[in-house]
Amino acid sequence: MCGIVGYVGEQSAESVVVEGLRRLEYRGYDSAGVVLVDDGRLVGDKRAGKLANLDKALAEAPLPRSTIGIGHTRWATHGPPTDHNAHPHRGQQGRVAVVHNGIIENFAVLRAELEGSGAELLSDTDTEVAAHLLEREVLAGCTLTEAMQAVARRLEGAFTLVAVDAEDDTRVVAARRNSPLVVGLGEGENFLASDVAAFIGHTRQALELGQDQVVTITRDAVEVSDFSGAPAEGKEYHVDWDLTAAEKGGFDWFMRKEIFEQPRAVADSLLGRHDDTGRLQLDEIRMSEDELRDVDKIIITACGTAFYAGLVAKYAIEHWTRIPCEVELAHEFRYRDPILTRDTLVVAISQSGETADTLMAIRHAKEQRAKVLAICNTNGSTIPRESDAVIYTHAGPEIGVASTKGFTTQLVACYLLGLFLAQVRGTRFGDEIAAVVDELAAMPDRLQQVLDDAESVYGLARELEGARSVLFLGRHAGYPVALEGALKLKELAYIHAEGFAAGELKHGPIALIEPGMPVFCIVPPRGRDFLHDKMVSGIQEVRARGARTIVVADEGDTSVEPYADVLLRVPRSSTLLQPLAAVLPLQLFACELATVKGHDVDQPRNLAKSVTVE
Ligand code: G6P
Repeated sequence: MCGIVGYVGEQSAESVVVEGLRRLEYRGYDSAGVVLVDDGRLVGDKRAGKLANLDKALAEAPLPRSTIGIGHTRWATHGPPTDHNAHPHRGQQGRVAVVHNGIIENFAVLRAELEGSGAELLSDTDTEVAAHLLEREVLAGCTLTEAMQAVARRLEGAFTLVAVDAEDDTRVVAARRNSPLVVGLGEGENFLASDVAAFIGHTRQALELGQDQVVTITRDAVEVSDFSGAPAEGKEYHVDWDLTAAEKGGFDWFMRKEIFEQPRAVADSLLGRHDDTGRLQLDEIRMSEDELRDVDKIIITACGTAFYAGLVAKYAIEHWTRIPCEVELAHEFRYRDPILTRDTLVVAISQSGETADTLMAIRHAKEQRAKVLAICNTNGSTIPRESDAVIYTHAGPEIGVASTKGFTTQLVACYLLGLFLAQVRGTRFGDEIAAVVDELAAMPDRLQQVLDDAESVYGLARELEGARSVLFLGRHAGYPVALEGALKLKELAYIHAEGFAAGELKHGPIALIEPGMPVFCIVPPRGRDFLHDKMVSGIQEVRARGARTIVVADEGDTSVEPYADVLLRVPRSSTLLQPLAAVLPLQLFACELATVKGHDVDQPRNLAKSVTVE
């Protein structure tokens, strides 16, 4: 979390940097700040709260025009979100300014050392020590690049630092370890940012950096080195989406736009998954088919919404491949000393590819010699780079903090993985695999049908504006959908919401039911009648205790009608693929309920989209 931007070129650095921060605000919005280099001095402003506060301050007291600068939007770790703790931070003499994403773990030692030698630190942040250390190097005669290399060698933890020197208006310098940083390559201008969204309006050429690298951008050049100063190289690539994809396109919220983009995102994530002979293929597999045949256990690891996608995946992967599959929260995974061997396949699911907990989990897995496959939406991000194989989802940029198209495209990638393993291991016949792939290809139209009926979900949300607590019930692949529906409501509407496996209800949670309490019930399709019928019994149980049942069921399933106070229809799909459609009404419901409650749907309180701290 935290979004950082650096710019050097011909344009107004203030507008390029502030515009970049606007596109990175999803990474944190506790405070924002900018610093420009102006004729041998640093000028800037920083404010607690959302970027709008900084905008206002800059409009009231404009900065001089400059073509070089840095900026930051913060998700607080060390120190509360005050003006004081906002970035950029400066050295003792105000010569060097720096912005930072990550956590400098040895900052307390460094701070004591600096204070011991007379430095006066003004904030509670870990970042300020880096500003002081950089400035000392520069005052001792180093270039900012050399200073950055020297300081990066001293820091422990995760950090991306971007800095400017008041007496050098030619360069912006950054260092990266375990936090994201990408370079935007322009004509007569260059950019640094946490994410390409910050500069996509200016250039679609980007340079991906490795771990432990320092990069210096000037108007006409980009130089990369390691922390010792030895030359290194980044990897250039073209970004295949443009500015319109990162804007709201007429919707009130990015999240609502992203919900409606799901038919397209699912279709795009299915594109090009066959070779000429019709066999499934994955994007970047650095594992042989023999290695995949040897896999005897799969552990899926992820956080938040991606974890729920993993829970759905377990049902599909075990069914199609007969390989035992566990699903584990990434932050729990490595601390329980999991049993991993060379034949364990660890699947890390992450929309951003930067979630620190998930990254640490895959590093642990690799140390234990397990193989790692990433399912990720962000090209060139850290998790896929450090994995043995990658399936990229093609959802396009997801800006809304609450994940929507990230989730459905992760489901698609999980299905493809399960089918691919079944193909390689021969646990399903080719025609069985082809039948599921055909059904997947039909899903975008089905998703569209659900979205075409959004108004009925919105009406329900408006009606339930005053609800204090909402429950979600599901079974089998519908259980993670229930969990995801509850998470969406907690994240956005800030009301108590819980998802339960319907069969567990009678073991305790049923005590929560009060007359009139809204309970969403995700009903599996007929076909696995034992599942369907058990779910219907669960609905009857809560209804008998006065719950208001909101039933999500297949079109044509008339058996649920007597038990539904509200019926939300989804097109008929097979049990394993139903989550793709069934989650949509829950997303629409949460988005609308939060809207009528007057909440900021794209930037819910206390959250950040990409959590790059453990
Ligand atoms: C944060 C976000 C969630 C997201 C989770 C995992 O907590 O608020 O919406 O599901 O991180 O993110 P990832 O990028 O790894 O999928």
